[in-house]
Amino acid sequence: MKSFKSSAWILPQPVLILGTFDKNGKANAMNAAWGGQLDMTEIIISLGSHATTDNLAQNPEFTVAFATASTMVASDYVGIVSGRNTPNKMENTGWEVEKAPNVNAPVFKAFPMTLECKVKQMKGERTGGGYLIAEIVNILCDEKYLAEDGKPDVEKMELITFNPVQHTYIQLGKTVGKAFSDGLKLKK
Ligand SMILES: Cc1cc2nc3c(=O)[nH]c(=O)nc-3n(C[C@H](O)[C@H](O)[C@H](O)COP(=O)(O)O)c2cc1C
Repeated sequence: MKSFKSSAWILPQPVLILGTFDKNGKANAMNAAWGGQLDMTEIIISLGSHATTDNLAQNPEFTVAFATASTMVASDYVGIVSGRNTPNKMENTGWEVEKAPNVNAPVFKAFPMTLECKVKQMKGERTGGGYLIAEIVNILCDEKYLAEDGKPDVEKMELITFNPVQHTYIQLGKTVGKAFSDGLKLKK
């Protein structure tokens, strides 16, 4: 085995698109890979100092969408450019925006699935930001991406993951097994 120095190499990493409104109700989006599920209805995101962080300080509600192959270029763009110094950031994405039904935050309609979230706490210090803990208050899924049982069909969404080693995005592939089930074959 070859050793590498300590790096942000948890695999695979999500491509989360955080949607916020500024104090004038203008939408902004940013890309975040350092986030995950914390509890049944809670998520945690490691957030630096961004326009998003400023927006959350005055309006602690946001959305989290999951990036897809077709939204990849603009999803990367919102991770490179800041709403702090690029007033036309959202126009450049071409994303259609509407207000989320349950939180004061934007929904970007190009994405199949979106969490509506409320900040519970901002902990610690991360260069002007911190560790954002938020409650998922509702989940929206475009009807196009529902399975026959009425639940979101994740395989249909063409989700992408961030590869922190080569700095690329990789599209998720096919279902290979059933969780909490296939492993039972080895139970003796
Ligand atoms: C692949 C990728 C992953 C990122 N992950 C994070 C992250 O987890 N946390 C963070 O604070 N910034 C992250 N960023 C950086 C922000 O998305 C970036 O600084 C963005 O311009 C902030 O936008 P805003 O200032 O308009 O809010 C990431 C960027 C990219 C491209």
